[in-house]
Amino acid sequence: MNSSRFWTKLGLYGALIAAWTATMGSLYLSEVSGFTPCTLCWYQRILMYPLAGLLTLGIMRRDPHLPHLVLPFSLVGQGVAVYHFLLQKTPYFGSPSSCGIGVTCTTVWLDWFGFVTIPLLAMVGFMAITTGMLMVIAGDAGGAGKAWPYQWPRWPAPFVVLIAIGLYVAGAAQAGKIHVSLPDAALPFATELPFLNLSEEPTPTPTPSATPTSLEDGAALYALACINCHGEQGAGVEGLGTALADSPHVSGVSDDALAAVIRDGRAADAADNRTGIAMPASGGQADLTDEQIGDLVLYIKSLQ
Ligand code: HEC
Repeated sequence: MNSSRFWTKLGLYGALIAAWTATMGSLYLSEVSGFTPCTLCWYQRILMYPLAGLLTLGIMRRDPHLPHLVLPFSLVGQGVAVYHFLLQKTPYFGSPSSCGIGVTCTTVWLDWFGFVTIPLLAMVGFMAITTGMLMVIAGDAGGAGKAWPYQWPRWPAPFVVLIAIGLYVAGAAQAGKIHVSLPDAALPFATELPFLNLSEEPTPTPTPSATPTSLEDGAALYALACINCHGEQGAGVEGLGTALADSPHVSGVSDDALAAVIRDGRAADAADNRTGIAMPASGGQADLTDEQIGDLVLYIKSLQ
């Protein structure tokens, strides 16, 4: 077999598999795992999703222009993903900040091995696609004298698509999840329980560790890491985070249990999740210390 043809096929199908893996994977993370995409995530999605279709159709039609249509998307997407990754993992692009309404771009949803975050996965996907397209172009240049376009096999392409969609559906079904926002069954209780708490216990005795500084620190941390989802003064944000002020899920819960929620977050499919929306561990800040979490507990208790 001609070796440049081997590289062309590998480039095309490598890119196709990368695009479909990234597309279905990102849909899985938002729709099944309940991770809310930030603004930069959306830019990456806007650049990645068309590539799944473009590569499929381009391979099916044996379009010799395919690499040149794909590269602008994959190169810009790669740039955004690199920027996003550096924003999350280095201090060079400013402190944790919001880049839009909702989840901040520095919110870390996944942190495998301490460095594999969602933007890193996107970066690898875009890089695989870019590399694949460069291999196709190089294969063309190396094949001087041969007829171009090379008639690459096209029927594996629909199978790649079917497998990607099949894996998504199987994963979603296994997670028992077609994302429905139920009218929160716990809400009627939520409006009643604070009454009980108020009548029972009207003494707002601060715990011994409740020095004003740590309460202030808690408020500052809250504004940095939690406010985008849980709102000003813990008022809650529809579709992102529950109300923490006057909430039985805060007042009726021990400090240790609150610290555990903040430390570990709550998966969308956790037994005690009421909204079907996930909360990231440490609110997406990988480096909150125990003391900072203690300050946060103090602050959200003060909102009751
Ligand atoms: C990306 C959004 C997001 C961020 C950021 C976030 N949370 Fe949450 N948090 C949630 C969601 C959603 C829930 C409720 C999950 C459920 O339905 O049980 C929750 C639940 C909680 C709870 C349990 C109370 C309850 O209503 O179940 C506490 C306490 C809490 N968050 C504190 C924090 C603190 C403190 C921070 C900042 C360090 C923070 N959260 C950051 C989304 C977020």
